[in-house]
Amino acid sequence: MFRVFDRALINLTSALVAGLTALMAGVVLLGVFTRYFLNDPLAWTEEAARYSLIWLSWLGGGLALRRGAHIAVEFLLDALPSAPMRALLLFAGRVAAIFFLVICVWYGLVLVQRVSFQSTIALGISMQLPYASVPVGSLLMISGIAVLALMTGVLATGFAQEERRREYLRVWEQVARVPLFASLGVVTLSEIVGKLRTRYYPPRITVVRRGDAGDSMFFISSGEVEVRLPNGGSVRLGEGAFFGEMALLERQPRTASVATTKPTTLLVLYASDFYEIASHIPKLAEAVEIEAKRRREENLERQTAGRR
Ligand code: CMP
Repeated sequence: MFRVFDRALINLTSALVAGLTALMAGVVLLGVFTRYFLNDPLAWTEEAARYSLIWLSWLGGGLALRRGAHIAVEFLLDALPSAPMRALLLFAGRVAAIFFLVICVWYGLVLVQRVSFQSTIALGISMQLPYASVPVGSLLMISGIAVLALMTGVLATGFAQEERRREYLRVWEQVARVPLFASLGVVTLSEIVGKLRTRYYPPRITVVRRGDAGDSMFFISSGEVEVRLPNGGSVRLGEGAFFGEMALLERQPRTASVATTKPTTLLVLYASDFYEIASHIPKLAEAVEIEAKRRREENLERQTAGRR
């Protein structure tokens, strides 16, 4: 429905713009011919050309806006560092344009009313006809902005959906490398895959820092991390292992800092998703808890051994 309306509007405006261009060219030629060749100029040609040009400009403005063909200053946009800031600037620009166009519609209509008693000198038509181009053209431009905004929204939603699908497939490929998930059935696994996010890290990047609040845990699908324990020792965890579970389970700050030692792919599971999964799949939560307990004991032992 929306597409049909949009197409119809574009076709109608294009036809009017083409017709008006032809009319203007014809009328100007006729004016030149009668003035210079017949020495008997027609009085109305100049007026007809002028009003055709006015309508042409307002309708053409709407058409150009709908096609994104207006001249734009992109310097500031390109200078902005992030996509959200660029989106915000574009949004602010659109709002300002709509505000200006609403003023044009409003005062355009006021003008149309005011000239209701006037008519043009040569053609003898109501002055309302040329003035009507202002609100009509402005409305067309507002509809152009609205359609573009809608289409960008539709595209963005489509893009987001596509990204989610890709992320799902990416995670699905990675999940097989984590033994904890390997024994789960397809249905359970698909539920977990929907909640995991892949993150790629170069070497020597700190993924979690000791003392920070922990709102997620990580599964290593490839690469390696080093856990820097509080007593000064360290443990390396490779493909298939997980970390970050202790802060999640105990709702306490991170017990150690963890950094990558090589390019590493991690699957991130956020706390709320972990608790949801844990309620459906107690086996998984249990395995994570057992390992967390073992690590806690190991760390305690190391600490007491360090003190001795
Ligand atoms: P968390 O405390 O959330 O953040 C740091 C993580 O390091 C911790 O969870 C564990 O996942 C991990 N960790 C802590 N101690 C050990 C250990 N002894 N062996 C392996 N991993 C550990």
